[in-house]
Amino acid sequence: MLKFDFNNMTEKFIGSEGFTDAELAALAPEARKAHEAFGKMRGTGMTAWADLPYNQDAIADDIIATAAEVRKNFDNFVVLGIGGSALGPIAVFTALCHFRYNDLPAGKRGVKFFVEDNVDPERMAALLDVIDVKRTMFNVITKSGATSETMSQYLIISDILKKAVGKDWNKHIIATTSESKGNLIKLAKKEGFKTFYIPDGVGGRFSELCPVGLLPAAVLGIDIKGLLKGAADMDKACADGDMFRNSALMAAALQYGAMKKGKNVSVMMPYADSLKFMADWYCQLWGESLGKAVDLDGKVVNAGQTPVKALGVTDQHSQVQLYTEGPFDKVITIIGVEKFRTDVTIADGAEEFPDVNFLCGHTMGELINTERVATEYALTRSKHMNNTVLLPEVNAETVGQLLMFFQLQTAYCGAMLNIDTFNQPGVEEGKNATYALFERKGYEAKKAELDAAPKKEAAYII
Ligand code: PA5
Repeated sequence: MLKFDFNNMTEKFIGSEGFTDAELAALAPEARKAHEAFGKMRGTGMTAWADLPYNQDAIADDIIATAAEVRKNFDNFVVLGIGGSALGPIAVFTALCHFRYNDLPAGKRGVKFFVEDNVDPERMAALLDVIDVKRTMFNVITKSGATSETMSQYLIISDILKKAVGKDWNKHIIATTSESKGNLIKLAKKEGFKTFYIPDGVGGRFSELCPVGLLPAAVLGIDIKGLLKGAADMDKACADGDMFRNSALMAAALQYGAMKKGKNVSVMMPYADSLKFMADWYCQLWGESLGKAVDLDGKVVNAGQTPVKALGVTDQHSQVQLYTEGPFDKVITIIGVEKFRTDVTIADGAEEFPDVNFLCGHTMGELINTERVATEYALTRSKHMNNTVLLPEVNAETVGQLLMFFQLQTAYCGAMLNIDTFNQPGVEEGKNATYALFERKGYEAKKAELDAAPKKEAAYII
């Protein structure tokens, strides 16, 4: 089970920048209230994600059977999706598959895996340079069934498939979408695509543990039941309303308290390349969930904390100077891994150079973990708030625990901030403006609003 170490958030370790015992005691009732509020909401509205570890036995079996067919019949699996429909699959792939997965010889891996989240034309062209569409399964993932990026990708690919494959082109697409709304479900029914549903009440950034993430993971041979078990274990471990007995609630309360102390930046810094994209996934979860203009009472609050991704040790040679000596506006969350799945010994060969020789005989795992501890020390010594989430090792269960930990932390923190954690009006505004600029029917008023906006002066200096 993962452990959460928050010592370096407290006065005892970082002096006046840290929480006193009295401040922690004052946060506890607010945390309890948030836990209760979330408990009452659970399973209703947009919190159906909390039940995903418990209610997907039949779906998981269907996914595993479908994944086996994909592995048997195709060489490539391409996810077409963006935001929550892409970041979770990327994070879990990177965490649980070989680091050079696509480069392994065919006998040592399954189907090659690609996630096309952006709509950069050069990226799409590059994908088409390296895959044979006749040997490729595309998984179109969009909850709304309307997102411009994903639907553009779908249109481009289905056109290419129709030309390359002919009448069976529809056997190259699996749709993952809402059962009840949007265009993708209508297209899926019309064209006869195999379809998985994103349950109502599961928003994009909370969707990794439903078919959005489970199908790509199963295609990659990842133990999806292990992922779900890990998430269930974490959920059960966070049942208590006492934040001293609930790690995700404590983590939420500390970030909430830190925000009140002006710490407006949340740095997520895994010390493992396998977890690098977990930080990207976290950034969407934290930023999109907590960044809200108004609270539940309609009061303007402009809540939120800017999430920043970093990687240990790489960013020790980049960002850590700022984290140790820059403004006291951050909480740095380190993710550590106790035991790496494989380790490499640093060879002898520098006996006459004591400044290098001290490394010899140690392993890279020892080095990365020693540097993690050293960075914690440097941050603590300079009185910058930091906390650590420690995984015994990276496997399906601990990744499931990690996903659930951050989802629960986000939900609790949103409840403490008294905001709607599960909407994204700012994202919708950008989507709607795109529709209007492309003169989509129904968006005439938005187009008029955009046309009436002040025009930019020519302000470029050449
Ligand atoms: O968290 C969210 O809901 C969003 O970021 C979505 O994941 C993103 O906008 C993609 O939406 P959709 O799945 O509807 O294509």
